[in-house]
This record gives sequence, C-alpha cells and structure tokens, in this order.
Amino acid sequence: MEYETPLFFHVMEYASRADRDVVDMVSGNPDWEPPAALRDGLREYADLEPDRFQYPPSQGLVELREEIAARRGVDAEQIVITNGAGEANYLAMARALERGRGEEILLTDPVYPYYPGKTTMLGGTPAYVEAAADGQLDPAAVREAASDETAAIVVNSPNNPTGAVYPEETVRELVAIAEACDAILVSDEVYDHYDLSGTFSSALAVESAHRIVTNAFSKSMAITGFRVGYAIFPPELVDDAKSRHMLVNVAGNRPGQYAVLQALRETGPGYYERNRDLLRERVTTFTDALDAAGAAYTRPDGSFYVMARFEGYPGTLENVERLIDEAGVAGMPGEAFGDSRSEWLRFALVTPRLEEAAERLAAYFA
Ligand SMILES: Cc1ncc(COP(=O)(O)O)c(C=O)c1O
Repeated sequence: MEYETPLFFHVMEYASRADRDVVDMVSGNPDWEPPAALRDGLREYADLEPDRFQYPPSQGLVELREEIAARRGVDAEQIVITNGAGEANYLAMARALERGRGEEILLTDPVYPYYPGKTTMLGGTPAYVEAAADGQLDPAAVREAASDETAAIVVNSPNNPTGAVYPEETVRELVAIAEACDAILVSDEVYDHYDLSGTFSSALAVESAHRIVTNAFSKSMAITGFRVGYAIFPPELVDDAKSRHMLVNVAGNRPGQYAVLQALRETGPGYYERNRDLLRERVTTFTDALDAAGAAYTRPDGSFYVMARFEGYPGTLENVERLIDEAGVAGMPGEAFGDSRSEWLRFALVTPRLEEAAERLAAYFA
C-alpha cells in the first residue's frame, strides 16, 4: 500500500515553518478545557497500585463498557473500546467487508478523508454520493447508488466538513437501505455532543442488525490525544471485531479509559452545553467576518467546521499556503474532502484567536 501523509499534517507543517504569525484553523483539536473530573481521574490513576498499570481487558475496561452501555441502551457485550473513533471506523469497515457481500464502500462527497484511505487499505473500493450544498444527504441518491456490491455505507453526522446534521428520517432511511442491500450502515457520531441545532438523531435509535455506530470522547471531552473511542456492533458482528481489535492492539490505553470513566460519571450536561455555547458564539463571529469578506459559506448545524468559498480563490493546497503566507490564517483545502468542494476552504473553529483570524480574512479578501 502506498502511504500518503494526510494533507492536514502537510498544512500544519507548512504553517509552523511560515516566517510570520499564523492562526491555526487546520485540524479538529478542541482548545477548550476537558471536564474537571477527567483531570482528577488522571491524578488519581497515578497513585494506583502497579497491577492497575497492566493490560486492561482487550475490549476495554468493564466499568467503562457498562457505563456506555447504560447510557446508549445497549448490551455491554456489543461494545469495543477503541483507539479513538479512528479505530472504531476501521473495525466497522473491516467487519462490513469481511462479510463478503461486496467490496464497495459507499461514501459521501464531501468526505472525511480517512474513510477513502481506510477503504483502500482494507482492499475495498470507494464510491461516492454527492451531498447537497448544505451538506444534507438525499436518501434517494444513496438508494440509487447502493447495490449488491455495497459492503457498507459510511456516514458522519454531525458532519465533518459540512456541519450538516442529518434528521431522524434520513438516518432511518439509511439503515433501511443498508438492510435492503444486505450491507452495513456505519454511522460515525464523533461530533454528537456538538449538535448546535437540536436535531441530531443517532443511528442507535433504529434497531437493526445492519448498523454499527462509532464514537469517541476525543471531541466531546476535548481529549483527542487520549485515544479513547468505541464502536457498538450488532451482537452477531461483535466477536470478529473484538478479535481484530485484540490482534492489532492487544488492548487499549488504560489510564485514558480510567479517566474517561470518571469524567463520564461525574460530568453533568452543563459542561457540554457550555462548549456548544462557545461554538455558537464562534460561528457567529466567524460568519460575520465571512459576510464582510463577501464569501459564501455553510453555517454549521453541528461539529465545529465552517466551509467558505472566496470568489476567484479555489480550495487548492497552493491557495491554502498562500493564505498562510499572505493573511496569516491556516485552513484546509476543500479539495482534500472530494471533488464537490474543490472551490472551498475549511476552517476549524478551535482556536482562542478566532476573532483575530476572522479579522485577517475579512481584511485580506475585502
Ligand atoms: C468524522 C470524524 N471521524 C473520526 C475522527 C477521528 O476521531 P478520533 O480522534 O476519536 O480517532 C475525526 C477527527 O477529526 C472525524 O472528524
């Protein structure tokens, strides 16, 4: 397999080498505080006996799986604690391809770039259904694209990069399409705590042997470095996924799982609400500046990205580098997310210097 460095590494490196000050709006690393209980859990962990520093159960700490199971209304046996949503998606896509029903993985355009990468790595073939201008997915288009060859339909809501949140009806129909062509719907819900619209609907709400839900605490607890996520499988699909997880990883990160468990138990809804409020403010600040710059943009209903299109300034890597050098703002080229957004740039609203970045963009493009 030919390894390609993810484009965002390249952009972040380019920005760090720039000989001017640059506001980094490239990747999805939250800049806000994790829950206080998470820091307490980590401190507590440091003083535990050495036996607690050894391998945890491969599929994850029992108490953490039970806590998630109780919250998500599933059996703990259906859950594998993973190395972030990244591994959860990998396990889910591998499990779908392993069923031998077809080699095609149906993705959306625009797409979170790791999905096509994983598809190819796993020997599958990516195919795309174009999302609407506002990022919504038309189930009729998915139905038309799906066939006997489809092993999985991989979707993400709230969406990176569009900010779209799929309504319940879309999610329900996507599960029905997966059932009709004997495929698996993989629903990546890693931004579920950043639903700014109140319309998010988890695929877990639709009972089916044909859907796998993936998630992580990376974004919801602002801990992308901890690498704690999970996948929820239908009972008939979970055993092989556990084996794959074990053979690849042996087990997951025990201190991280311990601290996440403490945080889950002790963090009330206020923590998540405050983060959403912060994001809502940032969306307004940033889109006001885009208005001043005369840009077109998508106002996110969820996740924490804004896509913007500046007249005569397509979303190429070259233009992203120019923006770093000439405006001091680093975003992501839209072309990294597929053909449909090649005219666009993506900005992650995860910097305390957002207002400054917005002013720089408004001044540069005005
Ligand atoms: C849609 C989507 N899925 C998965 C991930 C990876 O999540 P994790 O850091 O938990 O592996 C990201 C990270 O940006 C993402 O945007």
